[in-house]
Amino acid sequence: MADMTRVESILEGHPAAGRDHLIPILQEIQEAEGYLSREAITRVGEALHLPASKIFGVATFYNMFRFQPKGVHHVMVCRGTACHVKGSKRVLDQVTRTLRIEPGQTTRDGQFSLEVVACMGACGLAPVVNINGQFHAKATPLKLQRILDACREQELSHV
Ligand code: FES
Repeated sequence: MADMTRVESILEGHPAAGRDHLIPILQEIQEAEGYLSREAITRVGEALHLPASKIFGVATFYNMFRFQPKGVHHVMVCRGTACHVKGSKRVLDQVTRTLRIEPGQTTRDGQFSLEVVACMGACGLAPVVNINGQFHAKATPLKLQRILDACREQELSHV
């Protein structure tokens, strides 16, 4: 659930905003909330006099936006050139198969979310995966499978 007071204060920071403010406003909301909720998009639409469907369309086009909250474990797979050359596609395929989600989505139990990024500035460690801020260097499908299993076990031991 979005914190609408934060959304309101972001909108207050853009008085008399027009369509050209749309992307900066969405970026600020995502930074504050971690994602763009349906309520936040509707409210931005009211403020900018744009239909919510239009905002969804624009936000989907720029694939930096997500529409679901992040999971407990936020998995970022780098698909920059260095990581691509070293096999990041196979790593990403493994993650999507294991978690049964696509980039930008969160598992139903809220445990995992997935994001694809362009370059994490750690090309020497390619292919790189980052989970909750921790880098995993020279990732392989098998390594990732083990790391995701370990994350799951960690959660189960907290239940
Ligand atoms: S391309 Fe992946 S860290 Fe630079």
